[in-house]
Amino acid sequence: MKRHIRFSDEENILVLLDQRYLPTEERWYVCKNLRDVVKAIKNMVIRGAPAIGVVAGYGCYLGTLNLESQDPQWRELLKKKLIELEEARPTAVNLKYIVNIMRKIWEKDPEMELDELRWVWLKKAKEIHNEDILINKRLGTFGAEILQGKKRIMTHCNAGALATGGYGTALGIIRAMKSMYGDVEVIANETRPFLQGARLTAYELHHDDIKVTVVCDNSAGYLMSQKMVDAVVVGADRIVANGDTANKIGTYSLAILAKHHNIPFYVAAPTSTFDLSLADGSQIPIEKRSSKEVTHIFDTQIVPDGVSVYNFAFDVTPAELVTAFICEKGVIYPPFKENILKVIKGSER
Ligand code: MRU
Repeated sequence: MKRHIRFSDEENILVLLDQRYLPTEERWYVCKNLRDVVKAIKNMVIRGAPAIGVVAGYGCYLGTLNLESQDPQWRELLKKKLIELEEARPTAVNLKYIVNIMRKIWEKDPEMELDELRWVWLKKAKEIHNEDILINKRLGTFGAEILQGKKRIMTHCNAGALATGGYGTALGIIRAMKSMYGDVEVIANETRPFLQGARLTAYELHHDDIKVTVVCDNSAGYLMSQKMVDAVVVGADRIVANGDTANKIGTYSLAILAKHHNIPFYVAAPTSTFDLSLADGSQIPIEKRSSKEVTHIFDTQIVPDGVSVYNFAFDVTPAELVTAFICEKGVIYPPFKENILKVIKGSER
């Protein structure tokens, strides 16, 4: 996969592959300021927890550009912008995590001049981006080792290169399996309503010559009963202290089906997706998105006028349904409360 998040030093802009138009069109979306970045996150130009975090890093830098160092208010204005940025989407903790990293750099030297802050933040945003790719590669190798011998992997949503700085979490494991064992096949749930599985997972795996088969979300139980699924691997938007995991709506049902069929259910996520400040999944804010995403498929209306819909973008999978978490520091098995704490403690917060 080519880089889908690009910062141009010459033009001082962030350019994003617009995921709303994939797989049929490769359109690029230009962010010249922080408002463009917030819009891109809210409107799903860019999505996926780690990718949102990476873009937020560049967003902090872009937020400094239309400020004037002579303006005595610039620090206050910038603080407000950071809050607007971290609130662009509520469930993926990576967004707040990265904004906090940027904030802490500034807090170490609050009197820093605007020009210096710009330089420091842009450097850090690039580092975060490159590090995200390395993290995914490490995580991918750990995952491939424990999945050796499993050939048909079901995944939900898109936890691939497009959902991260590059390479992917769940799909990073698939990429590592492909290069280590050669033989792997992905069953991608289509993931209504935004169709991240059908449009994005299929797009990037097909592009990289990895066998992928798209199925409707409601096929999972039947496929599992027919022994067509060897393991399920998904990404995550937030994993809390006891291991409860928020991920794309439908993940919870999939985990129950996997448990019923005795199929291992793995969650792949970088340590930046763990939020130890929350004790259990009931405290995770779940984003509700526009009903139009459900009532319409692109511009075609499929639900009668006046009918109400629920459009929760995420659900929470209870920890007891998870076989193990795979992060860049290794594989975390139960008991999760103790083991998550051991592995995540010491990560930058
Ligand atoms: O609404 P989205 O597309 O941002 O949701 C994305 C997911 O649920 C992913 O599975 C998750 O962010 C992990 S991405 C590596």
